[in-house]
Amino acid sequence: MQISFSDTGSGDIQLLAYVVNKGSLPNGLEPELAEGAAAARFKGRVGQVFEGFAQRDGKLVRVALVGAGDADSSDRKGNLEKAGAAIAAKYASSGEKSVAVDLGSAGLSGEDAAAVLLGLRLRTWRYDIYRTKLADEKKITLQSAVALNAPDGTQATWADQSAIAEGVEFTRVLVAEPANKLYPVSFVERCQAAFEGTGAELTVLDEPAMEKLGMGALLGVGQGSEQPSRLLAIRWDGGAAGEEPTVFLGKGVTFDTGGISLKPPPGMEDMKWDMGGAGAVAGAMLALVKRKARANIVGVVGLVENMPDGKAQRPGDIVTTMSGQTVEVLNTDAEGRLVLCDALHWAQEQYSPKTIVDFATLTGAIIVSLGHEHGGLFANDDDLADKLTAAGKSSGDKMWRMPIGPAYDKLIDSPIADIKNVGPRMAGSITAAQFLNRFIKPGVAWAHCDIAGMVWADKPGATWDKGATGFGVRLIDQFVAENVE
Ligand code: BES
Ligand code: MN
Ligand code: ZN
Repeated sequence: MQISFSDTGSGDIQLLAYVVNKGSLPNGLEPELAEGAAAARFKGRVGQVFEGFAQRDGKLVRVALVGAGDADSSDRKGNLEKAGAAIAAKYASSGEKSVAVDLGSAGLSGEDAAAVLLGLRLRTWRYDIYRTKLADEKKITLQSAVALNAPDGTQATWADQSAIAEGVEFTRVLVAEPANKLYPVSFVERCQAAFEGTGAELTVLDEPAMEKLGMGALLGVGQGSEQPSRLLAIRWDGGAAGEEPTVFLGKGVTFDTGGISLKPPPGMEDMKWDMGGAGAVAGAMLALVKRKARANIVGVVGLVENMPDGKAQRPGDIVTTMSGQTVEVLNTDAEGRLVLCDALHWAQEQYSPKTIVDFATLTGAIIVSLGHEHGGLFANDDDLADKLTAAGKSSGDKMWRMPIGPAYDKLIDSPIADIKNVGPRMAGSITAAQFLNRFIKPGVAWAHCDIAGMVWADKPGATWDKGATGFGVRLIDQFVAENVE
């Protein structure tokens, strides 16, 4: 969606939306509309929409009032995003091509106003490229928005916010694409296209390169697939020269059948988004690079497809990781940690980061624990955990901390190798985190975000339609803005 700014509004406005606070209406609103709003019990609650029509300059204009809730709400930004999103939800496929949004009626700051635009843009996004028979009334028609009476500072804030929107949309595309279109090699190609000319530096490791480095765990997962595995690093040096980068790392299993420990058929199609962690990292890097973040950051993604095959690894196989530690693969469906452990080790060797945060759709158990409201956060460092929790709150990508510790760690000791890749049934998300923890070097602050419940939505949410949410992009961006820049 294209967003532009205008002081006056051109004469050809057909649809005009006013953002209004609870209990108030725009100055000078036609009495018919005010009466209509009252009759429809429009109160200006967050996301509430009233629609009427008015004659203006001899033309019939569709006028919408959109509620932003209380002006002094503690979640003002979130509410304003929801107000913008409500405009999108109502008009995205209404036949209207453009909406004018009046931002001058709710006492907004520039940042507040940009939040409305971000909600509007994010909620308009939908991925319809494979729907060739979609009825005209169901197509997205809304292509542009014109911001009217935008407060000072809106445009400057929007310049950054639109980069974030681009990142979220990139992630959503990666997550939404099915596994016959998006596999390790094509994931890399899409990143190469997206980052072309941005100044970011991309490094790609193919299978021979990873074999040389001894990444037996990552390669073991991919060995049953016709699609070769890849490791991709996206580096952005926007900060102080020579300062170690902060590393974000993602699980990129482009399809997870479970391998020989095959998953049951119902719902297996969901496993096309088992690369949601990698998608979040790639999209966040795009956002940070596009807004030229003043920070040194690297996004690393481990890309594999987990398939059953004559060449696939078997339960009981023992693989040697790049770190030298051996892993007994008791369940080939616990593959994410096998991909991450080699990627984590490589990233620490390569970049000597002080801080590393990984994102992964790692366990079904985290959905049992937290549902679709919070991602699970595990960390070896309280300060890092607090910062990620705070960034989650302010960005809307909410995280909830879970415990780790030596008692859980014992559960993954193997009788024949150094580690086994699954523990007992209990505490499944925690033992997965403990597994990763064994690959973190002393002194490195590490956090693991299990986002299995967050990257895909079966019903529309605050700023997304059903499908890929883009979760994680805004969390990473916010974390960098608050702590690294
Ligand atoms: N990708 C899955 C986790 C997952 C499940 C993500 C449902 C999103 C929705 C992961 O690779 C997996 O299969 N985990 C197993 C681990 C088990 C074998 C220890 C799980 O959660 O059942
Ligand atoms: Mn699995
Ligand atoms: Zn998986």
